[in-house]
Amino acid sequence: ETTSSPPFGATLATLSKLLTDSRLQKPRIGIVCGSGLSTLVKSLKDVIQIPYSQLEGFGTSTVAGQRSMLAFGLMGKDNIPVVAMLGRFHPYEGHKPVTVTYGIRVMARLGVKDVIITNAAGSLTPEIPVGTIVVIRDHLALPNLTGMNPSFGPLTSPEYPRFLPLGDAYSTRLRRLAFLSSHDLQFNSSALAEGTYAWVAGPAYETPAEGRFLRNAGAHVVGMSTIPEVVAAREERMEVMVLSLVTNMVVIPEKYRSIKEEVEAELAGQPMQVPEIGTASHEEVLAVGREKAEVMRALVERIVERVPMD
Ligand code: HPA
Repeated sequence: ETTSSPPFGATLATLSKLLTDSRLQKPRIGIVCGSGLSTLVKSLKDVIQIPYSQLEGFGTSTVAGQRSMLAFGLMGKDNIPVVAMLGRFHPYEGHKPVTVTYGIRVMARLGVKDVIITNAAGSLTPEIPVGTIVVIRDHLALPNLTGMNPSFGPLTSPEYPRFLPLGDAYSTRLRRLAFLSSHDLQFNSSALAEGTYAWVAGPAYETPAEGRFLRNAGAHVVGMSTIPEVVAAREERMEVMVLSLVTNMVVIPEKYRSIKEEVEAELAGQPMQVPEIGTASHEEVLAVGREKAEVMRALVERIVERVPMD
């Protein structure tokens, strides 16, 4: 199979033309903003926003609640230059792996060393309630294990390792900074947790059996993004941190409601009271994203301030 190489040269040329402020041309940190988390752009000073439609190699994000822009700006009291993707691409939208990971690879070519990837995720355990930010320490990617790894196929650069190690994918240095930053901001200890992210292809939310399966396999949260970007960022030798905002609880009833028992009780003239169980919805995901966007924004800003200090 032949692979056409991604249009990095054209993208970088367009960017250097549009980034008229030279301080923005060499971003130190890259940020990916997930569902409802694009308000992060409010942290940026002297911002230049470039719609993906003006950039070769980028797609168009089709998910409600996601913008489609690359934002360059200065962040924090030391004016650290950063680049942020407002809106990302998911395989479930029909985007190819090369598009899903393109923004990350462009960041690497701009000189970014550390990437902070945010997302909205469902919680698989009552110990991690809605509103918690989970600092990801490991992942469980069923698609990767079954031929949907973004690097499946011919190597697209001789620089990439054929067998990418992922045992150290989540930078301990950056994860430490997340908890130190939470302390700086006087967040309650329960505001941040640590855990394992399960990547599913989506776009349907999990059935109870699927949620239980992922929980039993050791995952704490589940989502439909991020992992292709993590893989690409590690291929590009950048350090990675992932922050998942828990927007909903995945419905995992301990016991199934028995329709058989209910019907038999009804026929015996003793109908049972049965509680309704909830279900995940994109509206709920966006609402919690909006509610907690400010917390995520403050945390990311503080982490960015701390990165060059360590
Ligand atoms: N499942 C998968 N992806 C998600 C969820 C979920 O419950 N919530 C936000 N993204």
